[in-house]
Amino acid sequence: MASILQCMDCGRQYPIDRVIYNCEACGGLLDVEHDFTNLSITRDLFDSRLGSLDAPYNSGVWRYKEMVYPDVDPAHVVSRPEGNTNLYHTPRLAQWAGVDTLYLKHEGENPTGSFKDRGMTGGVTQARVLGMQRVACASTGNTSASLAAYAAFAGIEGIVFFQNKQVALGKLAQAIAYGATCVRINADFDKNMQLVREVSDNLGIYVLNSVNPFRLEGQKTIIIEALQQLRWHVPDWIVVPGGNLGNSSAFGKALHELHALGLIDRLPRLAIIQAAGASPLYEAYTRDFASFTPQKADTIATAIKIGNPVSYKKAVRALRWTNGVVEKVTDQEIMDAKALIDAQGIGCEPASACSLAGTRKLVAQGVIRPGDSVVAVLTGHVLKDPEATIGYHSGTLDHLSANHPNHIFESEADLESLGRILTRREAPVRA
Ligand code: F0G
Repeated sequence: MASILQCMDCGRQYPIDRVIYNCEACGGLLDVEHDFTNLSITRDLFDSRLGSLDAPYNSGVWRYKEMVYPDVDPAHVVSRPEGNTNLYHTPRLAQWAGVDTLYLKHEGENPTGSFKDRGMTGGVTQARVLGMQRVACASTGNTSASLAAYAAFAGIEGIVFFQNKQVALGKLAQAIAYGATCVRINADFDKNMQLVREVSDNLGIYVLNSVNPFRLEGQKTIIIEALQQLRWHVPDWIVVPGGNLGNSSAFGKALHELHALGLIDRLPRLAIIQAAGASPLYEAYTRDFASFTPQKADTIATAIKIGNPVSYKKAVRALRWTNGVVEKVTDQEIMDAKALIDAQGIGCEPASACSLAGTRKLVAQGVIRPGDSVVAVLTGHVLKDPEATIGYHSGTLDHLSANHPNHIFESEADLESLGRILTRREAPVRA
């Protein structure tokens, strides 16, 4: 076996065919660790697979198979295929944020519209390796959309637990459409996370939240692919929204391994951005991680409305590996940054805009310097949360102003009325 499960705290190891998410000895989170010693992992190997038309290397996850799950039989791989997302060079947004070089890595361009697909291909593949017939997650929306799709694609049952309110419409619609067993529970995400673990243990269901380390192996490829797109030139910063902290954890592991393997010659710094109303990592960061206090979360960025992140310890490890920082941004800052990303023709859901809002804030504080190069990750598609977008532009969101509005004009069905609108003097606001 080239891979094992290993506790991040006490180092205890378990075979990878165990259905287990925490260490039996100390309760610590598990990593999938690969033995890279007999593998030849080079930039050339990954470059040689670019443009492949065949599974599994046509996937932007499985192109890096040796770093994701080296031993897996390709016949078990469940792939849509995912990844191969664009890296946008955005000079106007760079100027707004205050840096010379800004790239947006758009994970909303995955098959179900979020980065979760990169993790889900890893998790559902492992479900198939283990012969599990049912997979489940608690979700703020995107994980459930992704799980529903990949379970359906694999021909197994998907089960998703939603919180009782504030699930974005696009995500709910996806889970229903893909045929998952959908359960709305009178509780928030953090409580549902606990429930899904307990009920799955009782009923022999495989949990596919990011506590499942096979998810994180897939999500590492966001970083690997971005670096390949940059011809392996390492940016100074990678900026990512933080909720349950699975992505941040995966980024840290990817960077640590890429560096150890010699594929990159230095580490970028990681900046994790949380919504102000759901910022337990940020609060712990300000105390140098001396203590952690869960929060009752509230933010318009419902994807990251999480007060007790499962992967907290792995995120702290990622920050230590990369000399990283944590920042928080208000709902107003999130929605204004989103409006500007949207108005570039790129678009994203609210949580994703933390990356840009956080970059601007860190530049203003002098943490990110104007000459630094930044890769900011957009995590979800603009169509995920149409209510937030329309609410912002029509000025109907509680306590929030539309600082970059695009109003809808009303016209009579005649040329004079249309002419008045289309010859108006003021132009729409653009970044
Ligand atoms: N952005 C989006 C669009 C998300 O859906 C999530 C998480 C995050 C950022 C945060 O990523 O949890 O790895 O720190 N959504 C999860 C879900 C929790 O259930 O869909 P994280």
